[in-house]
Amino acid sequence: MDRITSFQTTRRIVMGPGSLKGLADEIKRLNASRVLIITDPGLVRAGVIERVEEILAKAGIPYSRFDKVEPDPRFEIVDDALAQLRAESADLVLGIGGGSSIDIAKVTAIMATNAGPVGAYFGIDLVPKAGLKTILIPTTAGTGSEVTPIAILSDHHDKLKKGIVSPHLLPDCALLDPELTIGLPPQVTAATGMDALIHAIEAYTSKNATSVTDLLAVQAMDLLFNNIRIACANGSHLEARSKMLEGSLLAGMAFANAGVTAVHAFAYPIGAEFHIPHGIANTIMLLPVMEFNLLGNLKKFANIARIFGQNTTGVTERKAAQLAVEAVRELAEDLSVPQHLSTYGVKEEHIPGLAEGVMKVTRLLANNPRVLGLEDAEMIYRRGL
Ligand SMILES: [Fe+2]
Repeated sequence: MDRITSFQTTRRIVMGPGSLKGLADEIKRLNASRVLIITDPGLVRAGVIERVEEILAKAGIPYSRFDKVEPDPRFEIVDDALAQLRAESADLVLGIGGGSSIDIAKVTAIMATNAGPVGAYFGIDLVPKAGLKTILIPTTAGTGSEVTPIAILSDHHDKLKKGIVSPHLLPDCALLDPELTIGLPPQVTAATGMDALIHAIEAYTSKNATSVTDLLAVQAMDLLFNNIRIACANGSHLEARSKMLEGSLLAGMAFANAGVTAVHAFAYPIGAEFHIPHGIANTIMLLPVMEFNLLGNLKKFANIARIFGQNTTGVTERKAAQLAVEAVRELAEDLSVPQHLSTYGVKEEHIPGLAEGVMKVTRLLANNPRVLGLEDAEMIYRRGL
């Protein structure tokens, strides 16, 4: 211990195949009387929400459903969810879905007890009061948002993704049932799984990493790297799905405390302006950022290479660190994740503006293992073209 640090996470985590069946008990444990389910239309179509509603109906718990969450949700969606919550007098928010539904659920719960507008809370520790009781159920092995004090929403006026960071965003309970991730198509499994893997890589190499977050990040990298190919190749492989969900949870716990670094910083401007899905934007930026960052912490990048199964015997630490990049490159190719920004219409002429955008993401750049300036940012985007 060389400095004062702290660690926080979700206080109750229930997980395992079939754990969804215990949902009613979790709601009763929190003494809630009316539930607002927050989700997206895709999960309604997939029949997942019907299963949740059956469990609530059987237990005699009144509920209503808000299913209008969109990908990269605009923060105005929160106002619609909040109006329904008030009309129904719900006292517990149940967020179920990918990162978008979960983040809207988290923000709706705090806006129920704090005066608006939502925009007033973008930033760090600006939310005065705890929100309504919240249970979060992720259906992708990705964001880890069920254990982070962060919500990311899109501001369509500024073309920016903005974050609310507050301990009040941590839910009362996270419920992780890998059976809910079985139906995810390979491309979504790949993109969300890469996002989770990047959370672990970035938490591990963050300047704010601690022995606790390292423990979580190392285990997360092992689980995610060694199961993502199987989960993409055979979506109904329950063991691989289970390990992916566990990996994304541990990665979430790690980065919620150690922070993410430049990969996420570079992903935000392109995600908002060119509508590149978060996991894909991260995967594209991972290789050029990792190559740049190696010098900032050769020892840890060399360890990552070993976790990723690279043979580092007899090579220098510099070469071993480079092998981590090679392992990631091979993985992205195997998973057929797009690897170039140009695929999404990003051109050379966009780079100066994007690089200026990334320099504003100071919250994340402060964690980066290597100091990064405007010219570096342009060079890194150029390598991602
Ligand atoms: Fe992420």
